[in-house]
Amino acid sequence: MSGKNDGRESWGSNFGFLMAAIGSAVGLGNLWGFPYKMGANGGFAFFILYLVLVVFAGYILVMTELALGRATGKSIIPAYRSATDGKGTFIGIFSTVAPFLILGFYCYLGGYALKYAIANLGDIFHASWGVGGADGADFFTALFTNRGESRVYTILFILVTVLIVSRGVSSGIEKFNKIAMPGLFILLVIVVIRSCTLPGAGAGIAFMFKPDWSAFAGKGIISVLASAGGQMFFSISIGMGIMVTYGSYMKKDDDIAKSGLIIPLADTVIAILAGLAIMPAVFAFGMEPSAGPGLLFMTLQNVFNSMGAAGPVFGTLFYILVCIAALTSSMSLLEAIIASFVDKALDKGQGNKRKMYCWIAGVLTMITGASVAMDGLGTYLPPMFGRFCWLDGYDLLAEGILMPIAALLTVLYFGWIKKDFLQAEIKTSSTFKTEKFYTFCLKFVAPIFCFFVLLGQIDSFFGLGWF
Ligand code: TRP
Repeated sequence: MSGKNDGRESWGSNFGFLMAAIGSAVGLGNLWGFPYKMGANGGFAFFILYLVLVVFAGYILVMTELALGRATGKSIIPAYRSATDGKGTFIGIFSTVAPFLILGFYCYLGGYALKYAIANLGDIFHASWGVGGADGADFFTALFTNRGESRVYTILFILVTVLIVSRGVSSGIEKFNKIAMPGLFILLVIVVIRSCTLPGAGAGIAFMFKPDWSAFAGKGIISVLASAGGQMFFSISIGMGIMVTYGSYMKKDDDIAKSGLIIPLADTVIAILAGLAIMPAVFAFGMEPSAGPGLLFMTLQNVFNSMGAAGPVFGTLFYILVCIAALTSSMSLLEAIIASFVDKALDKGQGNKRKMYCWIAGVLTMITGASVAMDGLGTYLPPMFGRFCWLDGYDLLAEGILMPIAALLTVLYFGWIKKDFLQAEIKTSSTFKTEKFYTFCLKFVAPIFCFFVLLGQIDSFFGLGWF
């Protein structure tokens, strides 16, 4: 007996599934990666390239993962095992280790967003636990060098993630996303309106959108491609089996071809909105844009400090938004880690072991998360692999190596070896007008693209300076 669907959960509705999948996609990557990368790599020119990648690779990869999940009705490891007759089980293992490596530092950063939301709220009441007008860089340094407090917030964030995911697919993950994602959208629109109507906002809009085709000249095109590709991978949550797992909870009549398009497009729209929320305000107050934690936790705090009485209000709203974005993503990471184990127990007739596995993974994540907190962004521990702060070390291992390898092998396998397997699944619930396009891209475009992303990541991992 395969055990398939014996007590296995599924999404309550297609809307709920879409919110959960978009919630997984929309995260820190959209908020601090995309807007800066777009501005620094050719503006509108970068955006056009990114859109091309979304259609030719993002769409293809999301559909591939969703179809693999639904065709097998299993989560990552058993899905790869059954679709490859055991040969590709290791891809499933890669795709389980990668989210585990990411989840710890993701919750560390989510914990900081929580801390900032609380501190900005404190400012509304002029409380002693507020930011109190402290310079953003000083406030952030005080936080990450306070390893005790950093651990507390990291663990708190992991706890919230575990509590939601342990409630189940539809009554935990889906329920939360159905409320949180529309809420995030509304908050984002409020912040966009405030940001774009500040005097001097135009410079930020120009930074993001000004087309600069010269970024594509010579070797530039490869480096822009690698940067846009890596960003897209992480942002739409592919290469880590999350869409496989989420796809395995889809109903047999849900349209995969349509969802495969909606998810990356919604993710892109939110990334652009995030840029419009952040960059105009950064420029209006004469600050320098940057990428990564510095943008969210230093520059933007200074923006809110400069806004006068309204600052703490917008600060609170903004950091709540960051918390939601991080939480809906950390939930998907945890789900991807535990789902294979939950399935295995179900198959063995041991019943629903979701809670137990959530707590096991949660405690293990607390260890990796705490190690990142103990490192204080490279202040305290010896560098990982001799070169990286611990956060970057975990990230490069997962995002830089495991994810692109898993994605590359996946498209090669289903494009060239097990042909038509996924197409047949997609066709059961969709007219699949894009089938020819899909097959072509799966065979040729997606592998080349994954290969470039892998090269770009290896280049930055080993500091080779190829691009
Ligand atoms: N997509 C999220 C972001 O943009 C991060 C994320 C969550 C992720 N789940 C993932 C990335 C799965 C890759 C795979 O921040």
